[in-house]
Amino acid sequence: MHIDIITLFPSMFTEIFAQSILHRAIDKKLFSVNVVNLRTYATNNYGSVDDYAYGGGAGMVMQIEPIDNCIKDLKKTRSYDEIIYTAPDGQLMTQSLCNALSLKENLCILCGHYKGVDERVREHLITMEISIGEYVLSGGELAAAVIADSVVRLLPGVLGDEQSALSDSFQDGLISPPVYSRPADYKGWKVPDILLSGNQKAIDDWRMEQSIERTKNITK
Ligand code: ADE
Repeated sequence: MHIDIITLFPSMFTEIFAQSILHRAIDKKLFSVNVVNLRTYATNNYGSVDDYAYGGGAGMVMQIEPIDNCIKDLKKTRSYDEIIYTAPDGQLMTQSLCNALSLKENLCILCGHYKGVDERVREHLITMEISIGEYVLSGGELAAAVIADSVVRLLPGVLGDEQSALSDSFQDGLISPPVYSRPADYKGWKVPDILLSGNQKAIDDWRMEQSIERTKNITK
């Protein structure tokens, strides 16, 4: 999978793709990413890509021309399965959307900023709009990072043990059960006896009960 990210703040992504699972996916050549600075497509000498809103009102609007030129340029070398715009009013990111996106080859993510993009970008250039939650971030970069992370970890071979993605919370509609590691007794806070019992059937049943209980609790 390849992801192109169009942003006004490219350096925000440096560490995200240099660490942990995403870095490993890049190292294993299962994933590649290209972070594009939208300012390089500015149509003026100041590097600005935003302007006042027609009709007045507070806040600047990301202009269509630099975005159109940037996407046009990227499309010269790649054809996208989806061109995603990150926005608080987009389709809510869920595990099933992550699963669907993980089957794609080429994604482009445009990070929103200021008051948002000129509406014509949404109408004509974007194929999908994603929100990572019902709250407003100061920009789309964190949302783009969440999308990349939640999708790339699902690519076959990215996680050491493929089972671990399948047993993630939400993957089967259930929240994961609690997990414990050594020591079995820490300051009197004990690991449930059942996990130390060696009875795998009883442990699996207990884990399933815990998952069901946790799932009921978050949906209350
Ligand atoms: N930009 C601002 N808020 C956002 C959100 N909740 N999801 C995606 N992009 C955003």
